[in-house]
Amino acid sequence: MRSPKDFFKPLAVGAPAPRHEIPFRPSRMIHFFPPSNEKMRSKVPDIVPQVDVLLANLEDGVPATDKEAARAGLVEVAQNTDFGETQFWTRVNSLDSPWCLDDLTAAVLEAGEALDVIMIPKVEGPEDIHYVDRLLAQLEAKAGLSEPLMIHAILETARGVANVEEICLASPRMQGLSLGPADLAANRRMKTTRVGGGHPDYLVRQDPIDGDIESDRTIYQQDLWHYTIARMVDACGTAGILPFYGPFGDIADVVACEDQFRNAYLLGCVGAWSLHPKQIDIAKRVFSPSPESVAHARRVVEAMGDGTGAIMLDGKMEDDASCKQCQVVLSLAKELAD
Ligand code: GLV
Ligand code: MG
Repeated sequence: MRSPKDFFKPLAVGAPAPRHEIPFRPSRMIHFFPPSNEKMRSKVPDIVPQVDVLLANLEDGVPATDKEAARAGLVEVAQNTDFGETQFWTRVNSLDSPWCLDDLTAAVLEAGEALDVIMIPKVEGPEDIHYVDRLLAQLEAKAGLSEPLMIHAILETARGVANVEEICLASPRMQGLSLGPADLAANRRMKTTRVGGGHPDYLVRQDPIDGDIESDRTIYQQDLWHYTIARMVDACGTAGILPFYGPFGDIADVVACEDQFRNAYLLGCVGAWSLHPKQIDIAKRVFSPSPESVAHARRVVEAMGDGTGAIMLDGKMEDDASCKQCQVVLSLAKELAD
């Protein structure tokens, strides 16, 4: 792990960052709020203790006419909130927008002491991260910050997905990646019925029974996001950074939200976005290992002794590799409990 001072020396453009480990901080939900909205700002002290990450959103969802008010709201919240153990992030406007430079400048110079991570939307390649890395280094030096700000990129264009490995390795500031399903669907010409969801017509039908295409065949809706999440998880794992599911926009459908979050957890994601207080507890539940999985992991690890060899437990083979899976569950449970 590099020392914070090293973050002030940006890497040469194109030089891959070494694999690094992000120090653990609970990040099961990144809770979005619009800082331009005074009512939402007034709720911040109540929300902070309920969430792992609070994010002031300056980008999509904030009308163009409110961009300056959102930036001012970010600064006000940063300067007047006791965040305790909760992380404070902001999502700035995209690098090709007229607002990004002012967002980054205000975020670092006026809110930098309170902020942990800056989320950059629509990242398309490592050059976007290099640009932000250098700009942050300048602004941090000007602000005299003692801790470097980390970068979280949203994967929401086809080009971003094509370059995902290079994006993850582009800077030691990289903290993680989120799936941005709404923009990504638009960019790829995908069709979905709700943000972060699928489409009932994306299905697989059982083969004809006895060759009869009229037979009553089972239909399964398929997950449109499986490929992208799996690819993102591998790229993040290679770089030692953290993968997140993004938003689920159908707030009332708490069942489907939980399903999407759980699939992401099972594939290796550490958290998801919450867009409404209803989604906070869903993320907390899904991204914390269940008591049953912790109890099972403990039994396997105890039965495996030094963690090598193979044993039979409840009729199932366990070995070095399955013991490692159990250790991942136990260390997550311990870190969340600490
Ligand atoms: C999030 O920003 C998305 O586009 O889904
Ligand atoms: Mg987006």
